[in-house]
Amino acid sequence: MATYQPHDRYYRKARARGLVSRAAFKIEEIIKRSKLVRRDARIADLGCAPGGWLVILARAVGPAGRVVGVDLARCPNPPPPAVTIVGDITDAETVERAIAAVGGPADLVTSDLAPKLSGITARDQAQSEHLLSAARAFAGRALKPGGAMVAKVFMGGDFKQIVADFAHDFEQVEVTRTAATRPGSSELYIVARGRKSKDT
Ligand SMILES: C[S@@+](CC[C@H](N)C(=O)[O-])C[C@H]1O[C@@H](n2cnc3c(N)ncnc32)[C@H](O)[C@@H]1O
Repeated sequence: MATYQPHDRYYRKARARGLVSRAAFKIEEIIKRSKLVRRDARIADLGCAPGGWLVILARAVGPAGRVVGVDLARCPNPPPPAVTIVGDITDAETVERAIAAVGGPADLVTSDLAPKLSGITARDQAQSEHLLSAARAFAGRALKPGGAMVAKVFMGGDFKQIVADFAHDFEQVEVTRTAATRPGSSELYIVARGRKSKDT
């Protein structure tokens, strides 16, 4: 069985590069591999705290881009041009504030949303799926036709149905695991491209 190593290679690498979390390496790997971000893009990053993904996304879009992070927790000092919103993404008012802050049809929605774990597997799974479906609904509102989404998902439960739901909304869906994900974790990422237009 995999052992949990809080101070593993990625933790040390994050510290050495001045990144707030090892999570940054996950989005760095995904956007590099899948060539998902162009300069000047508009991005919404759901579940952004403490801000690891924001650093990578802000760097990738450059000063004329737009990155809007949303989280229940405050995310101190977001790197320009990123801005953040404190709020619950399952709440309609937060969704409206985030969409307004993005300022136009988004090129990419990223979601690293994860619930506070209770240790009760069925409950944690249900909470994760609830957050994922809120992220998918948000993407349905915010993305431009042809836009892309990256979303954290956990293997188990309704995994097959989740992938099918994304395939309904996007032309191309792949499921990937990142090198920075902790050994033994069931965490995966859905990379979905080509958001279908709403009337298809
Ligand atoms: C794994 S962390 C994200 C790490 C982040 N990507 C980074 O690079 O630093 C998951 C985040 O999801 C947030 N979250 C959980 N439920 C949420 C909700 N309903 N609305 C907004 N954020 C939520 C948590 O507060 C937590 O900060």
